[in-house]
Amino acid sequence: MLYIGVDLGTSAVKLLLMNAEGQIQKIVSKEYPIYFPQPGWSEQNPEDWYEQTMAGLKELLAECDKSQVAGISFGGQMHGLVILDGQDQVIRPALLWNDGRTYEECDYLNQVIGKEKLSQYTANIAFTGFTAPKVLWVKNKEPENFARIAKIMLPKDYIAYKLSGVHCTDVSDASGMLLFDVKNRCWSEEMLEICGIREEQMAKVYESYEAVGTVKPEIAAQLGIPETVKVVAGAGDNAAAAVGTGTVGEGRCNISLGTSGTIFISSEKFGVDKYNALHAFAHADGHYHLMGCMLSAASCNKWWMDDIIGTQDYAGEQKAIGKLGENHVYFLPYLMGERSPHNNPNARATFIGMTMDTTRADMTQAVLEGVAFALRDSLEVAKALGIKIERTKICGGGAKSPLWKKIIANVMNLKVDIIESEEGPALGGAMLAAVGCGEYASVEEAAAKLVKIIDTVEPEPELAEKYEARYQQFKQIYPACRPVFDVLV
Ligand code: XUL
Repeated sequence: MLYIGVDLGTSAVKLLLMNAEGQIQKIVSKEYPIYFPQPGWSEQNPEDWYEQTMAGLKELLAECDKSQVAGISFGGQMHGLVILDGQDQVIRPALLWNDGRTYEECDYLNQVIGKEKLSQYTANIAFTGFTAPKVLWVKNKEPENFARIAKIMLPKDYIAYKLSGVHCTDVSDASGMLLFDVKNRCWSEEMLEICGIREEQMAKVYESYEAVGTVKPEIAAQLGIPETVKVVAGAGDNAAAAVGTGTVGEGRCNISLGTSGTIFISSEKFGVDKYNALHAFAHADGHYHLMGCMLSAASCNKWWMDDIIGTQDYAGEQKAIGKLGENHVYFLPYLMGERSPHNNPNARATFIGMTMDTTRADMTQAVLEGVAFALRDSLEVAKALGIKIERTKICGGGAKSPLWKKIIANVMNLKVDIIESEEGPALGGAMLAAVGCGEYASVEEAAAKLVKIIDTVEPEPELAEKYEARYQQFKQIYPACRPVFDVLV
């Protein structure tokens, strides 16, 4: 049988076809635009996602035996607000996970309702990218749109709806809405009331590996696949990536170097970070996880390469980087403000420490190191909670760079396990589809059978020590800049 994983990302949708043995048959990627209509705003058109997903599915399935397709599932950019009217039409462009406009609504939730109550209801506090503050923003700033809302959806769930006709979501993605009681895996009555939402406006919640239905007959006909193909709920992209890298069960770690950067720690038990710097979410394996999320990771390098120095030769630029652990240039990677652990939409990116002998390679190196240092900030929070991590998996576009993996291993002082396929969310989506179709008994079984470690990047004691000293310096830059960031707004 064949299984499809759809990773609805921020810059593109990636589609992956996998057979029952976990072999990847084909990967297709289709881009769509992102709009920044005002500083700090970030939007996409859900219709673009759907069009490109359908175009990608047709290309993906072009040469295979379509009668063998059994299931389709998803990983998707999290937290985005998609609002539908009574006819299931999209009311306005989606507000994305890295949109920073809701700072007033977040202040209301965190200060007036209070972080303690939010944490009690949902296991989390308000961040500008989360969905509940976005609902409040629409309520406050676009009341005519708010009045038309019949359904509140997340990005990948809109695609699942278009394919199956079912308004569904899954526990991992629902966790990032701040409307979900993570511990009990159900909508939070209190949060719905605070945001002026009725429960019938919310999608039905499934475990990530559960089938929500089958493809609609017209979709089956368009794609030439059987009408029995199951649509499986899927997961937020980080939980799906964790499945795809085998980060399931107790105490495993995955780092994702995508547009965002995340450190993801799986856990069999529910637990909340008492500082609320890490998100406490449900996992796609039926359990839980903690996650730190930085808003700009591989996107910092892409911005630096494509937009600033104007090159596509990422590997060539990295070749010019000489000594590691000795760079005196630092980069704060806060191009879209920052989520974990600072929770500051006003934070901005900064280069600091240049001198007349600073080279282009030093600056490139500072960008890669700045992302690694910022991920270490979240790792430090996890350590302060008593969590012991010695090794991690890695995935995402940035993980294709051997140099970046070496920097991560040494800055974080973690063994970085390299897996056969770094396709993260798309592979995780296909694995969830396989579990939902009964090919594997559980997500853990699928991960144990399908994910293979092929190499490990070990931290080198001398280099890790040099980076330790550099990190202690890096740590002082954000607190010093913070008052200035508030003035720059
Ligand atoms: C996670 C988050 C990002 C997006 C990116 O909390 O906001 O990782 O899911 O797609």
